[in-house]
Amino acid sequence: DEGGSLAIVVLGASGDLAKKKTFPALFALFKQNYIPSESTKLFGYARSKLTDEDLQDRLRGYLTGGKTDEKTDPAQLANDFVKLITYTSGGYDEDAGFQKLDKLVEDWEKQTAHEGPHRRLFYMALPPSVYPLVAKMVRKHCMAKEGWTRVVIEKPFGKDLESAEKLSGELGELFTEDQLYRIDHYLGKEIVQNLLVMRFANRFLVPLWNAEHISNVQIVFKEPFGTEGRGGYFDEFGIIRDIIQNHLMQVLCLVAMEKPVSLDPEDVRDEKVKVLKSIGVPTLADCVLGQYEGYTDDDTVPDDSHTPTFATIVLRINNERWDGVPFILRAGKCLDQRKAEVRIQFKDTPGDIFKCKKQGRNELVLRLQPAEAIYLKMTVKQPGLEMQASQSELDLSYRDRYAEINIPEAYERLLLDVIRGDQQHFLRRDELKRAWEIFTPILHKIDEEKKKPTLYKQGGRGPPESDELIGAYGFQRTSGYVWVPPQLQ
Ligand code: BG6
Repeated sequence: DEGGSLAIVVLGASGDLAKKKTFPALFALFKQNYIPSESTKLFGYARSKLTDEDLQDRLRGYLTGGKTDEKTDPAQLANDFVKLITYTSGGYDEDAGFQKLDKLVEDWEKQTAHEGPHRRLFYMALPPSVYPLVAKMVRKHCMAKEGWTRVVIEKPFGKDLESAEKLSGELGELFTEDQLYRIDHYLGKEIVQNLLVMRFANRFLVPLWNAEHISNVQIVFKEPFGTEGRGGYFDEFGIIRDIIQNHLMQVLCLVAMEKPVSLDPEDVRDEKVKVLKSIGVPTLADCVLGQYEGYTDDDTVPDDSHTPTFATIVLRINNERWDGVPFILRAGKCLDQRKAEVRIQFKDTPGDIFKCKKQGRNELVLRLQPAEAIYLKMTVKQPGLEMQASQSELDLSYRDRYAEINIPEAYERLLLDVIRGDQQHFLRRDELKRAWEIFTPILHKIDEEKKKPTLYKQGGRGPPESDELIGAYGFQRTSGYVWVPPQLQ
């Protein structure tokens, strides 16, 4: 704790993101005393004309997550929390609105008895089109007079390389890199954060983590629902921009990068950039695109939309460690289940005296959600009188092993990082640029050629071409093996 006061300003406070993610994450931090009421105040800013009470009432229903000890009444806690929020309305291009906001914050800072710097954190829960405008207003009127100012922004950071660089340039004229926190909430997930530790602190994994032993890597995101009222946004972006270019690529970086020199955020991000630079730019031959049936029934989606809601893209990393190993990124909406996982499939064991090839290969699976788990599929003797090999697993299921521990939400953890000034789990400008360089050529091609995605049934596995592509790149499905997470048994 640096002492002093902390003003957290949520811009776009009346919107969906603020209500569903930002305020609940702040509430979770409040509950654990990371944002003590004596020295912290929350300010909401948006265009809607609301009173403090209106906003507070709107938020209460969303302040439910996380554990509370039995003695504390959760409703009382939520009440104490919302009392920290003051709301003021104004336009996003309106000097007077931001001057009023600044005055509110400053008056509160003067009243707080706290010695030390008055810190200000601005969270842009806004449509990306207004980022540059609002950033300009914050820079002009609302900077902390002493102590730091930090600005948090959410994806989409542009739509392609050019627009992303334009945005980075505009923000870069107003704020330094260490004031900008580009959120990718996948970096706040427990298993994603564990990648660094698991990979670099386990001797047994070190010699295996390369092309010599690994056949292919899959990074998968599945959702059982469609665009659900976000059709307008989604149709403009599509699944590659919504999930693959950011969330899955960030996971790929942590799976594939070399060991950083230290845990210093710059050292970690240097390694991510390095691996990104080694990735070859994919062509359309490396992708399968799909769209779920009924997608265009949404009123906000044009009837002739070609936007993919599913994509499988195979990437190659041209470096010593990964030469020849396909990295298969797969994401889709309206599929059979909600799941995000990394699946590392090892090569066949040489000299198979047990004839166990048909039992399947070793696979290390990192399940991000639901129900965090890490399990290793391995072949063992089928218990019993016969000498028969069968596939089993070493299983680390978090709900069993860490039953007493409340796993924080991604946003909760990331907001705490912003308060603490730790940028390790945020995107650096060069990292973002390189991720766009990789995907922009196929995105442009898809748009130019109006490439029609394959229609697929809702609630299934997506287009069959995807499984064919993955098979062609060496992935072998284990027949008959199903891992059942313990809490679902
Ligand atoms: C968001 C996407 O970034 O991530 C959504 O815009 C998607 O389309 C969401 O549903 C998934 O996040 P999570 O944490 O539920 O996997």
